[in-house]
Amino acid sequence: MAETPRADLLVLFGAAGDLARRMLLPSLYFLDFDGFLPEGFRIVGAARSEMSREAFVDLVRTDLAARSEGLDETVWTRFSARLDYVAADATNAEGLASLTPHMQGAKRPMFYLALSPSLYGRVCVALAGAGFATDESRIVLEKPIGRDLESSKTINISVGAVFDEDRIFRIDHYLGKETVQNLIALRFANTLFEPLWNNLTIDHVQITVAETEGVGDRWPYYDEYGALRDMLQNHMLQLLCLVAMEPPSDMEPDSVRNEKVKVLRSLRPFTRAEVQKDSVRGQYTAGVVGGREAAAYEKERGEASDTETFVALRADIDNWRWAGVPFFLRTGKRMPERRTQIAIQFKPVPHSIFGGPASEDLVANRLVIDLQPDEDIELLLMNKAPGITAGGLRLQSLPLSLSLLRTYEGPGARRRIAYERLLLDVISGNSTLFVRRDEVEAAWRWVDGIEDAWREAGMSHRPYAAGSWGPAGAFALIERSERAWLD
Ligand code: NDP
Ligand code: BG6
Repeated sequence: MAETPRADLLVLFGAAGDLARRMLLPSLYFLDFDGFLPEGFRIVGAARSEMSREAFVDLVRTDLAARSEGLDETVWTRFSARLDYVAADATNAEGLASLTPHMQGAKRPMFYLALSPSLYGRVCVALAGAGFATDESRIVLEKPIGRDLESSKTINISVGAVFDEDRIFRIDHYLGKETVQNLIALRFANTLFEPLWNNLTIDHVQITVAETEGVGDRWPYYDEYGALRDMLQNHMLQLLCLVAMEPPSDMEPDSVRNEKVKVLRSLRPFTRAEVQKDSVRGQYTAGVVGGREAAAYEKERGEASDTETFVALRADIDNWRWAGVPFFLRTGKRMPERRTQIAIQFKPVPHSIFGGPASEDLVANRLVIDLQPDEDIELLLMNKAPGITAGGLRLQSLPLSLSLLRTYEGPGARRRIAYERLLLDVISGNSTLFVRRDEVEAAWRWVDGIEDAWREAGMSHRPYAAGSWGPAGAFALIERSERAWLD
């Protein structure tokens, strides 16, 4: 891959916001800790609120010190020297004037918009108006890019009028997760899986993203989006793409993204009849999660709402490789446990040679990729149960585990924040793990079809108790094809 010059300045808009404080600034600190930040790399936090540099630095220090990893004073001295803060309204060129002194000497600035997506277009116009959007600059956009296809196109057109596509980095933080990248290695660095990775051998795929957290005070954002737009349109479809895509010819950004977009375009649109059969919307009512009482979504929201906090659906990919292999996706808030998992369920052996009790032991192979809370990849294989048994041979299913957790053992070892990988890639100008415009739009096109079908079919949400695995319909959906969720 051609070397791209590294960025030398990060302007972080929304610097005192939730995302910046919880994820972005700690990620930058850890990159510095590991020696990945270029020498002289500067970080300028920006938001409309007035704050001195000292107050901002103190805020960052407090956040870092509160983390379980603790603060290394030597690294902190180096990192804090990179930090600055400026009060600036990013939506107009005049508001950005205060940034000018901080831009001096920066050859390759990157602008990170940790802001509401409704501002992206205006901010890009303002950056151009202020003369900051140079040919060497890069822009980083957080998800969601719009709320539907039309609004995403509007954002993409406004941003694209200022920045070329290869300088736009649309973040989906799931692509920065260690196991997600490992999925690419697993599929394309082994000869073992590729011959089996198709409808001849695979029965179905399950992707689950379950969270124990509720929506809480994020409802003003969430109520407009719901689980389908907040999680499935982006994170879950990205996971689906990495499972389903054809082998790219290399790891160049466009090679990978060309393959992902083909998958998105092969997703079968839902008709009104299918959406009633193959999808379920849910919303949590009061319940108990992890031994603690949890309020209903409507209580958090303050009034009734039809926004779904759970969605389950069956997706079909209409192409040669996946014809007849359903992908069952489900995601929800206030589930009984936190679990992000991809399960590839293989077909049973075509004929069992085992008679007697062993025939009952026989279960089909499964590849389970755990992303959260633990990272692991397990291949469930059948083998002989040890010892001798009176009734003859017995079989058992045992996991062959890559146990990624073990790689985190040892002094100083820790699990990386997904944003670390992605920030480093933006600094280096590598967009392989970022989402291209046509991907975002293809994903919205499919998701808009689901929303339209829901509306046409008058499908309102079904209640589920906080702490349960969603409405009963989610079980019926998968059981209709004589399969079951892996709970
Ligand atoms: P917050 O509301 O916590 O923070 C937004 C920040 O933007 C504030 O610091 C605010 O400060 C600043 N801001 C608002 N308007 C302007 C403006 N005109 N010019 C400059 N700064 C401005 O939001 P989050 O951090 O939660 O989210 C930011 C983005 O990240 C959103 O797109 C969200 O969808 C996305 N995201 C967030 C995640 C999270 O975990 N929080 C996860 C994934 C995506 P001030 O009022 O002082 O200007
Ligand atoms: C965000 C969604 O993109 O991802 C949140 O907006 C969700 O609703 C979060 O909670 C989940 O991320 P993670 O990394 O904790 O699985």
